[in-house]
Formats: sequence, C-alpha cells, structure tokens
Amino acid sequence: MTMGATYDPIAEYKAKTKKSAEWFQTASQHLPGGVTGNVKFYPPYPVYLKKAKGSHVWDLDNNEYVDYMLCFGPLILGHGHPKVVEAVQKQLERDGTHIFGAPHELEARMAERLKRIFPFADAVRFTNSGLEATLHALRVCKGAKKKMRIAKFEGAYHGCYDEMLVSLAPSEGLAGPESAPNTVSGSLGTSQNIIQNVQVLPYNDIENTVRLLKAHKNDLAALIMEPVQRGFVVPDVEFLKVVRETTRELGIILVFDEVMSGFRMERMGGACTQYGVEPDMICLGKIIGGGFPAGAFMGKREYMDVVNPATRAKDDRVFHGGTFNGHPTVLAAGMATLDVLDDPKTYPYLNKVSDKLRNGFNDLFARTKYDAKAIGPGSTFNIVFTKGKISDYRDAAHCDAKLRQKLDFGMMARGLHFHPDKPFYTCTMHSDNDVDQTMKVAEEVLKKMK
Ligand SMILES: Cc1ncc(COP(=O)(O)O)c(C=O)c1O
Repeated sequence: MTMGATYDPIAEYKAKTKKSAEWFQTASQHLPGGVTGNVKFYPPYPVYLKKAKGSHVWDLDNNEYVDYMLCFGPLILGHGHPKVVEAVQKQLERDGTHIFGAPHELEARMAERLKRIFPFADAVRFTNSGLEATLHALRVCKGAKKKMRIAKFEGAYHGCYDEMLVSLAPSEGLAGPESAPNTVSGSLGTSQNIIQNVQVLPYNDIENTVRLLKAHKNDLAALIMEPVQRGFVVPDVEFLKVVRETTRELGIILVFDEVMSGFRMERMGGACTQYGVEPDMICLGKIIGGGFPAGAFMGKREYMDVVNPATRAKDDRVFHGGTFNGHPTVLAAGMATLDVLDDPKTYPYLNKVSDKLRNGFNDLFARTKYDAKAIGPGSTFNIVFTKGKISDYRDAAHCDAKLRQKLDFGMMARGLHFHPDKPFYTCTMHSDNDVDQTMKVAEEVLKKMK
C-alpha cells in the first residue's frame, strides 16, 4: 500500500478546525447546513472566519490562512483595502446618510464610467447582486423582443433563480446527448413552464450551438452566456465570434454575463473587451461593488430603453426596481476599486502574481507526476485533475474529484483558504511570500498523496 492510500487530509483539517466544527453545530440549529447559501457549505463543515487583513484571513481557532476565496471573487484588492475603506467612510460622512433612496449623483457618474469601459453600451441600471443583474437583463430582452424563451449554455451559472438554474449541473444520467443537451431542472420548485422556456446549448461547440440557435430562432429573445464559463473554462475565440455573428443574424439579443469575468481578465474591462467580441447587453456584479452587494446590467439603447419610465407608457415597458439599487456606499466602494484598477501598475502586478501561482502549480504537477493542471485567465484559476482539455461543463465534471478533495483539505489544513473544488481568485495584496508559502504547502501535500 502506498502512503497516499492512508493519507487522510480531512482528519488533518478536522484536527485544526475544532472551533469551526463546534460553531457548525450551533449554526446548524439556526441555518440549514449552518450557512446562508448552499454553495457556502462543504462537508464535513466549512471553516468559519472571524478576521481578515489584506490577503490573509483568520478562523475561529485563530488559524491564519492565505485567502484565495476572496468572497468568490469581488475582493480583487484584498480584504479591507485602505482606499476602499476610506471611500466608504468619506461617503457616509459627506452624505450624512447610508442611502437616500432618491436619485443621486454617484449613480450617473458610475454609469458613465462603466460605459467608458464597455463602450458598446449606451445605458446602465444598477441592481444589488449579479443574480438580479441577469434576471432584469433577461426581462428587458423578453420585453424588447416580445418573446419568452432564453438560450443558455449547459453548466453556466447566472444566479440562483428557476430559469437560470436550468442545466447548471445536470447529473450524467439526465444530461442527454452532448450535441443537444437536455433541459434539466436545477432545483426542486421549478415549474415545467420555466423549464420549457429555456433552450440549453453545448458550450464551445460551434456546430451544434449554431444548429440549435437556428432551429429555435423564432421564439428566442436572448442568448445569455458567461464568455469564460465558471471563471476558468476559456472559450475558443472563434466560437465566441460565431456566437456573436449568428445571434446578430438571427435577431437574438446576445447577453454576456461578466459578473465573474468582469475585471478579472488580464487587463481593465472584461472578456468582451479582451477577446474583441461585443455583446448587445452585459451584466456585471462582484468587483463593481468593491466587496459590497452590487450588480449592473447595461446595453444598447434600443434594448435598455424598454425600462425607460420617462419615454415609455406604463403598459409598454419593462418593470425594473429595487429599494437599494445604486446604493451610495456600494458605489463609493466600487469607484475606489476601479480607481485602483485604473492604476497602470495594477494589472501587470495581478498578472505576475497569478501567473506565478498558475505556473508554480503546473511545474509542481509535472515534477510530482500528477495528471493535473491550473487553468483559467487573468486573476482566476482552477485546479483540475485530468489529462484532457477542459472545454465545457462535462469535461470539468469528469475530472478526478477524489484527488482534488485530498489536495484541497491538505492545503486548507496547512494555511490556505479557498472553497474546495472551486476556483482560486488572486488579489493585489497577494505577495511573493504568499505565493512561496502556497507552493511549499502544495508540494508537501502532493507528495503525501502519492
Ligand atoms: C457568472 C455569474 N453570474 C451571476 C452570478 C450571481 O451573482 P450574485 O451571487 O451576486 O447574485 C454569479 C455568482 O457567482 C456568477 O458567477
């Protein structure tokens, strides 16, 4: 028997996180699964955090970690960035309130700034989350086209509501043929009407995507897609271009959901600006709120105008609302974050740190002879145990989950924080020391797994 067969990283994790285990019991009395969102749970129990600074976090047992979760992406400047904290404090002092509710200047200023970054868009509306951004964007598309069906790609996440949970992570037995995926409910409580209104497409598959779009062109209002699926499955650029041309030809609105990829590519902007493919609408979230709850949808005037209460009659417009939309504190934090990202030194540094980690993992996998790789663009990467190429959800679902789980818990027990089986996010506060520590820990665990 090899040492790897007896190595039990979950036992190491449990030995280090006793207070988290106890708090999990307490939290579970009040919160299903001890968490406030399903994704935040992982077995045996999640680490409960209590403090953060820069690129580091501390848990209830006072264990210190290098953080690669960064709140699932928004904290591209790390925890408690002084410029973001200062901007929020100043906004609260200056305005004398947390929120007006009434319109205020910062909304249009932020909208104008986002339009400069994504010049194809003429108008913006703010929301409180990425989920709301995609939901409202899709309602705008349906209202503009007066059609009720939406196409999405299998494996894509656009927020946790009925329509967009369809075929998020279908089990193998239900998923159907790769060339024409089944439409699979993503949650109990989803009606057949909703499911029927979603057309599922195979990501990165030009031929079958075009075929399905053409077959359903008469009833599709929009195609929504993450240009980089789940933040790490990169598109074939030709595929993106064909999707753009085909949707334009067929009169289907193309919506890029850049809630995750927005500002996490190699330079300012998103996947659309980096790959040079312009959608009709774009959804943003995460980073534009600087760590506060935020979202936005923006796009061409001909579509965005369907929400315009100044020009459209009540019975001829799309409803969009939200008490907290355009929250001044959120926009102040978002503006400060964009200021730092605009600094010409920021993206080169983020790229350097991210490449060092990606290359470090890849060298390490080669040296320790694992069929594994670190993949993903810009400041996001994921670790996949496979020999093959990852082109879509099905490829990712077929990776070796057991090896990944061992590496995850071994690394967490040695001071790295991230969500098991999910991508890693980097920030401007990650240092060379953080990277060196990460590589040292990963090497130790990979050797123990052998
Ligand atoms: C691509 C994408 N769209 C939408 C969402 C939903 O955003 P939120 O969690 O802010 O509702 C997410 C969240 O991870 C996402 O990654």
